[in-house]
Amino acid sequence: KLWQFCCILFASHFAIFSGAINSWIPSPCSFPLKCQWYASGADECCTREDNILAYKRIRFRPRMLRDMSVIDTKTTLLGTEISFPVGIAPTGFHQLAWPDGEKSTARAAAAMNTCYITSTYSTCAVEEIAAAAPRGFRWFQLYIHRNRALTAQLVQRVEALGFQGLVLTADLPYTGKRRADIHNNFQENICTEYGLPPNFIDPSINWNDIYWLKSLTRLPIIVKGILTREDADLAARHGVQGIIVSNHGGRQLDGGPATIDALVEVVDMVQDKMEVYLDGGIRTGSDVLKALALGAKCVFIGRPVLWGLTYKGEEGLREVLQILHDELRLSMALAGCHNVTEIGRHLVQFSKL
Ligand code: FNR
Repeated sequence: KLWQFCCILFASHFAIFSGAINSWIPSPCSFPLKCQWYASGADECCTREDNILAYKRIRFRPRMLRDMSVIDTKTTLLGTEISFPVGIAPTGFHQLAWPDGEKSTARAAAAMNTCYITSTYSTCAVEEIAAAAPRGFRWFQLYIHRNRALTAQLVQRVEALGFQGLVLTADLPYTGKRRADIHNNFQENICTEYGLPPNFIDPSINWNDIYWLKSLTRLPIIVKGILTREDADLAARHGVQGIIVSNHGGRQLDGGPATIDALVEVVDMVQDKMEVYLDGGIRTGSDVLKALALGAKCVFIGRPVLWGLTYKGEEGLREVLQILHDELRLSMALAGCHNVTEIGRHLVQFSKL
């Protein structure tokens, strides 16, 4: 029996690490290479790890005997209703996870009635993504190209396709040093394969570019990657409609704060001048509840989307979203919150652990 077990283990390891398991994915790169790109963080991955650990330092102050027979998880994002406050953060290269790539993501998001922030690094054309779920609620994540005319065209293309917001990623003038990706030569191998030029992002982008974007589009602008009260204040002064507190899943500056730790100073600075969202390290419904309690209007998930797609495409991602929905609903019920308006700072305390 033990011998049989060892043979199976060896064969499955061989299949995975030789890339044989990959035959159903239309890409020549090996399975570990993709997984390492999805999982990778910058340098020593301190920030990536802390994004998750930081939630464990927060405890609830739950309330009891409040008739929890009806719970409502609905909320709005800049006026559009979604079924629960968990959206899909922009991540690239979904065809590495599942052959249908971003089309599956769009369908799953629409089925669960939530927001899908589509990445500039998508492996399906924006027209295909829009056609896959014509009634879906989508924002487009923008990296500003060194060739500004190309960026202007892209912005106008997504606006015409019915995307409802423009998310400018602010934390990537250069790509962070992700050791696994350097080892795998990911940029060269994958960007070239999908026809995306490496290093196309303009490192000179600055706050004045908000005015330039406003001259191109009437879409609301959301800035992603804010971690300090100073930048939150600048975002408000430049008239953007929302910010996403984010450290790019710990893939950019290692040693920056966990996003949940940066949230409070940002929320306190902007007050109700704009909506504040958060991503990074959200893995359970109780994480979502903690982020909402500290002032996020909605959270977004990155890697859990990629694991769901890798497992079973659209169905796998729907399952990930459903699990988070059900866990959030249960956490709200056990904490005594009937709906999202009842979630506030009174609900949490910071553990001394
Ligand atoms: C990202 N992220 C990202 N952000 C962005 O603005 N544009 C992008 O194209 C990508 N691509 C991307 C790829 C991969 C593989 C990852 C893991 C992340 C960052 C993403 O939007 C989000 O900030 C984090 O993923 C959130 O952290 P969690 O949920 O992955 O912990």
